[in-house]
Amino acid sequence: MATVEDIVLAPDNRLKTECAPIEEIADEIRDLAAHMLEDMYATEGCGLAAPQVGELVQLVVVDVDYSDGKRNPYVLVNPRIVVADGEERETPEGCLSFPGITVKVSRPSHVVVEARNLDGDLMRYEAADNLMAVCLQHEIDHLNGITMVDHLRPLQRLRKMHEYEEALAAGARPGEVGE
Ligand code: NI
Repeated sequence: MATVEDIVLAPDNRLKTECAPIEEIADEIRDLAAHMLEDMYATEGCGLAAPQVGELVQLVVVDVDYSDGKRNPYVLVNPRIVVADGEERETPEGCLSFPGITVKVSRPSHVVVEARNLDGDLMRYEAADNLMAVCLQHEIDHLNGITMVDHLRPLQRLRKMHEYEEALAAGARPGEVGE
């Protein structure tokens, strides 16, 4: 059963840890991917990385458009950003591990990502100037122990973390974002 209780909330060392590559796509990895997709849809997120459910392996799930009820999930095993270029764009991002806040993060607008799918096929994803481009970079950051607040300058980061602590204290839950 997927619930928001599964989501690891910041601060937590599991969100600051480099995740291990997946050597073999065994049943436990397929189960983990299914579980993460349930969690992602249950919290209305557009992506989720394994460390956010406490598993320190290189696995990401993404679905940037299911508002019409049609799900189009991608499961990325050992994803690598092979191209990140184009103009830098600042986009407000939320994160299931930081309920109650939104952070403006500047990232390259064009990315190419290579990853295995659950069948072991090498897939190539290209995205430019859209939510997918942002989401891929945000989720792959998680596998490297990097969260959205790590992109901020120290003072901004302190302010955001303070805002986050207040939001948590006020009862913010995963999937809720602030201004
Ligand atoms: Ni996140």
